[in-house]
Amino acid sequence: MTDKKTIAVIGGTGHEGPGLAARWAKSGQYRVIIGSRKLEKAQQVAAEWNEKLGAELLTGMQNEDAVRACDIAVLTVPYKFHSDTLDGLKDLLQGKILVDVTVPLKPPKVSIAHIPPEGAAGEQAQSLLGDGVRVVSAFQNIGAGHLSDVEHPIDCDVLVCGNDKDAKKDVIAMAAAAGMRGIDAGPIQNAAVIEGLTAVLIGINIRHKAKAAGIKITGI
Ligand SMILES: NC(=O)c1ccc[n+]([C@@H]2O[C@H](COP(=O)([O-])OP(=O)(O)OC[C@H]3O[C@@H](n4cnc5c(N)ncnc54)[C@H](OP(=O)(O)O)[C@@H]3O)[C@@H](O)[C@H]2O)c1
Repeated sequence: MTDKKTIAVIGGTGHEGPGLAARWAKSGQYRVIIGSRKLEKAQQVAAEWNEKLGAELLTGMQNEDAVRACDIAVLTVPYKFHSDTLDGLKDLLQGKILVDVTVPLKPPKVSIAHIPPEGAAGEQAQSLLGDGVRVVSAFQNIGAGHLSDVEHPIDCDVLVCGNDKDAKKDVIAMAAAAGMRGIDAGPIQNAAVIEGLTAVLIGINIRHKAKAAGIKITGI
């Protein structure tokens, strides 16, 4: 018997999701599912990563089945599909933790922070899903390039915000399992600042011809 929690990464077939999934799987601390709208795509990405990791660690499932099977769902879809994706999964997510990684960027000006009139993506997720789902906003400031190189340590902190202390503790543990320091950054209203920081980091990368700008909190 094992009490490992199961993480499902919704839209885990893109840029941001697979590196997170692979890091959690590699840690040995979680069962990890790659979710997709298409079963075959999820299975293919899981198989590719299992080959890279040298072990059958990841499973691919359709998003709905992935959410059914998980304790903690992690959302990694582009902002324009955020609400529709959550609407479709709302019932299945009740009683679980949703980790929202979404950044509401406004192309083409992705280096300018954009807070939608409805509020930060994390706040939207909490109000759309209701109190039965504990939404935690995290990992928005960690680029896919960092995450997908699973052997490389990530010298960036993860700001974790949400309204439920225990859920935040779970997500801080997930940050540690993925090789980063997670820091409780307050209630879900603070998601706007954290999501906005991603645009700032993208701009810094552009101006410095870099790929890996990140943040570290000092003094604690
Ligand atoms: N990329 C980064 O470096 C980075 C860094 C920090 C935060 N983020 C945030 O993480 C999220 C994902 O970014 P990404 O770069 O991974 O995005 P992405 O690669 O463009 O897309 C991720 C996944 O979203 C799913 N998707 C595409 N169209 C969809 C639709 N109409 N409805 C539902 N799902 C759809 C796809 O999965 P299926 O086709 O398999 O369903 C796709 O693989 C974004 O909100 C982004 O702001 C990204």
